[in-house]
Amino acid sequence: MPKVTVHRKAHFNSAHRLYRKDWSDEKNFEVFNKCSNPNFHGHNYELIVSLTGDIDKETGYVYDLGVLSNLIKLQIENSFDHKNLNIEVEEFKNLNPTAENISVVIYNKLIEHLPDHLELEITLYETPRNFVTYSG
Ligand code: NI
Repeated sequence: MPKVTVHRKAHFNSAHRLYRKDWSDEKNFEVFNKCSNPNFHGHNYELIVSLTGDIDKETGYVYDLGVLSNLIKLQIENSFDHKNLNIEVEEFKNLNPTAENISVVIYNKLIEHLPDHLELEITLYETPRNFVTYSG
């Protein structure tokens, strides 16, 4: 069977601050620059969730994108959208909410709800020019 990748785009707005508690404000500014602002700042995150697998003989689908859309809404958008990631999202209580770490958290939250035969890849844009990918 041909292997095909299907993609679903999603979006969330979140606030964050990049810093280490064990560093001074000066040191945090040195490393994380404006992203270490103690009063937080926001990003319009663009998320692309990609699933690779065989085309199902019966349906012609790799995976139902409607089902994937609901899964992203339930698992990611409902927890991240219009939230302060550092304060309101459990996974970032002790984890710096960089695009890198956010993409790993998203991967881990989604993979447990997806069939084993599919490969998952996360693409996360923090700005139109800065983005990361993670596929486990
Ligand atoms: Ni930032």
